Amino acid sequence: MTQQPTTGGDVRLTGISKTYGSFTAVHPLDLHIPAGSFFALLGASGCGKTTTLRMIAGLEDPTTGTVLLAGQDVTALPPYKRPVNTVFQSYALFPHLDVYENVAFGLRRRGVKSVKKQVEEMLELVQLGDFARRKPQQLSGGQQQRVAVARALINHPRVLLLDEPLGALDLKLRRQMQLELKRIQTEVGITFVHVTHDQEEAMTMADTVAVMNGGRVEQQGAPAELYENPATTFVANFLGTSNLIEAEISDKSGGALVLTTAGGKLALPAARCSAPVRTGGKVLVGVRPEKISLTHAEDADTVADGRNRITGRIADSSFIGVSTQYVVKTPDCPEIAVYEQNIERDPRLVPGAEVVLHWNPAHTFGLDAAQDIDAGTERDEEAA
Ligand SMILES: Nc1ncnc2c1ncn2[C@@H]1O[C@H](COP(=O)(O)OP(=O)(O)OP(=O)(O)O)[C@@H](O)[C@H]1O
Ligand SMILES: [Mg+2]
Repeated sequence: MTQQPTTGGDVRLTGISKTYGSFTAVHPLDLHIPAGSFFALLGASGCGKTTTLRMIAGLEDPTTGTVLLAGQDVTALPPYKRPVNTVFQSYALFPHLDVYENVAFGLRRRGVKSVKKQVEEMLELVQLGDFARRKPQQLSGGQQQRVAVARALINHPRVLLLDEPLGALDLKLRRQMQLELKRIQTEVGITFVHVTHDQEEAMTMADTVAVMNGGRVEQQGAPAELYENPATTFVANFLGTSNLIEAEISDKSGGALVLTTAGGKLALPAARCSAPVRTGGKVLVGVRPEKISLTHAEDADTVADGRNRITGRIADSSFIGVSTQYVVKTPDCPEIAVYEQNIERDPRLVPGAEVVLHWNPAHTFGLDAAQDIDAGTERDEEAA
């Protein structure tokens, strides 16, 4: 490959799919990843993430569809002719070469004579200048991971593909490397496509997250948009935690829909309902645990008008430092999760206490009730 400018290229997948015999690993998929963006493919094990990435890299032939990289149709090109590099979970460093030579490898293979300046710049970028003469086995997991990134970036790919690159690291190092990778991406401006099953990792790093389930992208968008406005039960449950309550639309005449639940009435802004809206129609009402406030039943009259409210009884509470997590039994839903920040805790809020759960209706979302209410939960994963 000739020297290319180090600027990001966009990725355009059109009708791309992969079947193995009668099994479809990836259903026909259209995806546009803008140049220079940090894009995450997020989903549970077996949902088709690696297969999608391998089709972009050219390591897997798509059954149907085309792959465009920086505007060029590369569907028929072998991996080494595509302007991409891949960083795998097992960094696959050369054990007999030191850090410097591992990073220089791509340049030497292309016959580049003077590698010093580029290698040194690259080691600087990943903050391994002092480790140039160490062998991979003399490095920590995170340091090896950075060598793998440097080794890929020195080839000036337009797109860097990362398949669970932090999977081998412990939690603390993972968090540190997430920020590190994000910094490197911002600095070099190359398009990063990052595959992970860790929703926090995807949200921390990516500009855009595509949530995959069963070989399909269910929803894509900015992390906050996906989190605040999930469109399916899978996204609502897989990305963080959601409380989903069965309800029926009883009035759709105002700006907010009025919903009837087993325990009373709730309001839902019409624009935040992705289910078909008709009177008598069933919906799943969603609210995130941190949006809900708890008030002891004795103080029920202090709850402001206009808030959605449900009454219940605390079944369980766990103190986890920054917050206390409650499980509340209600007529609407057997288990509602509530996360309260640990500021001025009410000592009466203990298991057995009668409480009012209340929240701003603007934080409510509505989903199509025809879906599996447990899709994307741990319960669902255990059953699969
Ligand atoms: N060569 C193959 N032959 C048959 N089935 C395959 C083959 N490669 C992958 N699959 C299947 O395709 C599905 C998607 O696999 P893929 O590796 O893309 O999943 P993934 O989302 O990367 O999962 P993980 O998070 O576990 O890495 C899986 O059910 C897998 O068993
Ligand atoms: Mg995989």
